[in-house]
Amino acid sequence: MSKVFSAHAVSVDGYVSGRTPDGDKEFGRGLGDAPMLFDWYFDGDTPSRLFDGFKLSEPSARVFDTAAARVGATVAGRTTYEHSSHWGGGGPHPTAPLFVLSHRPAPEISEKQTLVTTGIEDAIAQARAVAGDKDVALMGGGVLTSALEAGLVDEVILHQVPVLLGGGRPFFQDLPEHVRLRLIEAVPAPGVTHLRYEVAR
Ligand SMILES: NC(=O)c1ccc[n+]([C@@H]2O[C@H](COP(=O)([O-])OP(=O)(O)OC[C@H]3O[C@@H](n4cnc5c(N)ncnc54)[C@H](OP(=O)(O)O)[C@@H]3O)[C@@H](O)[C@H]2O)c1
Repeated sequence: MSKVFSAHAVSVDGYVSGRTPDGDKEFGRGLGDAPMLFDWYFDGDTPSRLFDGFKLSEPSARVFDTAAARVGATVAGRTTYEHSSHWGGGGPHPTAPLFVLSHRPAPEISEKQTLVTTGIEDAIAQARAVAGDKDVALMGGGVLTSALEAGLVDEVILHQVPVLLGGGRPFFQDLPEHVRLRLIEAVPAPGVTHLRYEVAR
């Protein structure tokens, strides 16, 4: 059976997006808010095999492309979808279809995207069905938390960036109980440490 995993760039103080440079309260509008979380996409000489325009350090390219090649479908939270400008009607991955999880209608959803309002189990089941023997990637701390609560997550990948953002949108959210993780890979690279954890069941 295919796996379910998440991969997020996270500051050491646990934020996945930062606040606006002028310090207003409109947190977390995506990449532009905290470009330092994603500098490692572009700070090397090794082009990504899957993402046009990405030039990473050699160890980051290896980790990034390995994870990207696993993805057969993506499930993103509504906030990530909104903060990513709906990916212009496409998705975050060059080939994998996108499922957007929400409790509300999304009039802007395109014919290439699928809105799911029937819960995380259904979203992951639909994503699995199209992913075939590839894996399902989760995007957004809220979606990851829902999936962890449902016991549906196999791996959590953190691209930990050595910065304290000091504010923004926290990645980690409340869970009803502890979730034990096992570190299965740690790859230090320029400007980022790639940490791959398996969810212990
Ligand atoms: N650094 C990175 O690598 C990275 C990666 C991805 C995203 N991001 C950023 O991280 C932030 C994500 O924010 P977030 O973690 O608060 O949100 P999120 O997971 O993207 O979205 C949360 C929303 O998803 C919907 N949702 C979640 N679980 C659900 C469930 N079980 N059933 C139905 N709907 C459900 C709800 O939408 P409704 O309120 O509509 O019901 C909820 O408010 C964004 O700023 C994004 O740009 C960063």
